[in-house]
Amino acid sequence: MKTKIGVFFGGRSTEHEISVISANQAMAAINRDKYDVVPIYITKDGHWYTGDALCDVANYKKGIKNLLADCTEVYMRPIYGDYNLYPAKRQGIFDKGKPVATLDVVIPVLHGSNVEDGIFEGVLETIGIPYAGCNTLSSANGMDKITMKMILAADGIPVVDYVWFTDKQWGREKDKLVESIESRLGYPVIVKPANLGSSIGIGSAHSREELIARIDDAGRYSSRIIVEKMIKNLQEINCSVLGDADDYETSVLEEPIKSGDFLDYKMKYMGDAKGARGMQASKKRIPAELPDEETAMIKHLAGETFRVLGCHGLSRVDVMIDADTRKIYVNEINTIPGSLSFYLWEAAGVRFDELMDRLVRLALKRKRSQETKTTSFDANIFAMGGGVKGAKGYKGVK
Ligand SMILES: Nc1ncnc2c1ncn2[C@@H]1O[C@H](COP(=O)(O)OP(=O)(O)O)[C@@H](O)[C@H]1O
Ligand SMILES: [Mg+2]
Repeated sequence: MKTKIGVFFGGRSTEHEISVISANQAMAAINRDKYDVVPIYITKDGHWYTGDALCDVANYKKGIKNLLADCTEVYMRPIYGDYNLYPAKRQGIFDKGKPVATLDVVIPVLHGSNVEDGIFEGVLETIGIPYAGCNTLSSANGMDKITMKMILAADGIPVVDYVWFTDKQWGREKDKLVESIESRLGYPVIVKPANLGSSIGIGSAHSREELIARIDDAGRYSSRIIVEKMIKNLQEINCSVLGDADDYETSVLEEPIKSGDFLDYKMKYMGDAKGARGMQASKKRIPAELPDEETAMIKHLAGETFRVLGCHGLSRVDVMIDADTRKIYVNEINTIPGSLSFYLWEAAGVRFDELMDRLVRLALKRKRSQETKTTSFDANIFAMGGGVKGAKGYKGVK
């Protein structure tokens, strides 16, 4: 029997549509001689659907309502070891709710908050099904730009200088925060909500007035805000990493070509060409033209970022070069990168179908390794001498 891969995409995320494109690219690449593919689309309000119609991007143009009319709503139970996909609605009283499919492994192709940040990965951990990519901890740390920078900086990985605070702090102590940003970073700065992607809510500020407006805006998206020193003469380079924290390899480097102050949502996904289709359409130079030492340093930093954050599967690390000083900073990690960075692996000699195969094998390998760890003890603490008397909170137990 072929291994059944559940590909999850969509979700309650600002990057919902990008995920639909990434997942369709990935599903088309999976070798069907070896694997069966079950698409599972998460709607913007969090319902799960499956059906063949989901495997063709053209069907999404008909409108989601029409598309879902051809699909079955499904769910999984949060029960360890139950890999079944159940129909959400029964067809009459004789319908026993027989599973629609039993999955062997999951590949989440989800981007952004609520899905790529460990929340969805936690659901998969609860079920215990093998899945590709980062676990809850590394996904969460990778998504939050503040936590990520703290961890990287603590391990000696260069990140730009920053100040962070919550929206409530901003409401309470605006003047103090402006003062600390001005004295520590100066202008210009970049203001970002801590946990969104695709440049949403991000903007530059060259004056106090702009700074205040940008922070007010970022606060509409997230309760955690980061303000960074802006690299004025910026060169951006991306590098994908594949493997696990103990054994990984890095891809060819890409240089996304930007126009204007920074890559905004529209530019990133629509490219310059009118009607261009998604991420592949944005302009990039592959491989990036850099001196050998810089290429080696960027690959090293990308690998270190993946290792230090405890990543797994496939990620893309984005670095920023200050073109005036040639100093390199790690900007961020995308734990489920757009198009799964397949084009960076193709350029490195790994075909897209091989990449998907590698992800499945990594998922199964992690599951086998997890099974060697002790998760419970047989000893019955309740039957031991002393019972629960010594247990904390005993007094409160009635
Ligand atoms: N410190 C910075 N200096 C200059 N430009 C920046 C800086 N941080 C981000 N940018 C620009 O903004 C873009 C989006 O920021 P990023 O942190 O990558 O957020 P996202 O998660 O939305 O991709 C970057 O690709 C880069 O062009
Ligand atoms: Mg980015």
